[in-house]
Amino acid sequence: MSRISVVAAVIGLVGFLGSCRQDMHDQPRYRPLSASRFFGDGRSARDFPEGTVARGQLRLDTAFYEGRVGTQEISSFPIPITAAVLDRGQDRYNIYCSPCHAYTGEGNGMIVQRGFTAPPSLHEARLKSATPGYIYDVITNGFGAMYSYASRLPPADRWAVVAYVRALQLSRGATLADVPEDRRPELGPRPPAPAAQPQPATPPSPVERRAR
Ligand code: HEC
Repeated sequence: MSRISVVAAVIGLVGFLGSCRQDMHDQPRYRPLSASRFFGDGRSARDFPEGTVARGQLRLDTAFYEGRVGTQEISSFPIPITAAVLDRGQDRYNIYCSPCHAYTGEGNGMIVQRGFTAPPSLHEARLKSATPGYIYDVITNGFGAMYSYASRLPPADRWAVVAYVRALQLSRGATLADVPEDRRPELGPRPPAPAAQPQPATPPSPVERRAR
């Protein structure tokens, strides 16, 4: 063997052995859920210390996140209600609520027509006077047969939906006088008063129809 290759082999061997330190691999550690002789209860997996909050999860603003202050549901909105918020609320309502509550809020949405429990009309006096915090809570935690929409609607969207529900409720009893005078032209021409129509005959029941 030439001298050069011997030197090269020695340098290579030194480099190779030098990289064989195991320190990082041998540091003390537990495999997930393995037993421990250090802790009294024998578990290596420890509970979070009480009061631990994950990053970004410090939800001190309970009015915004829970719709309540203390145990009291809030009776106002924790965000400013703008036209953009109402548009967003309408969009989310039509996607997530209308299948049951219907676009009108009357509660005869398509799923209800196919047999799901009928919700109360959102135009009921009780729900018209319900606080925004209450409706927010229904969306967040569900209510009776209605399940929670918390996973589908982040808090800001929930408030937008609550605002839109309020708008739906107000629209029912609204008159021309509720529209500022300078914006009335945007409503377009008023429809002519409907002519008295003869009442249509009751449609035949499915049984009668089959008999024909
Ligand atoms: C899958 C059908 C369904 C969907 C979708 C749905 N709801 Fe409901 N909702 C119900 C039913 C059913 C009830 C009545 C529950 C009961 O009384 O057991 C109800 C009740 C309510 C109530 C009245 C609670 C009370 O005090 O009587 C409100 C307010 C409400 N829903 C709002 C919403 C909003 C806002 C959305 C959209 C984010 C929504 N719901 C989506 C089925 C639905």
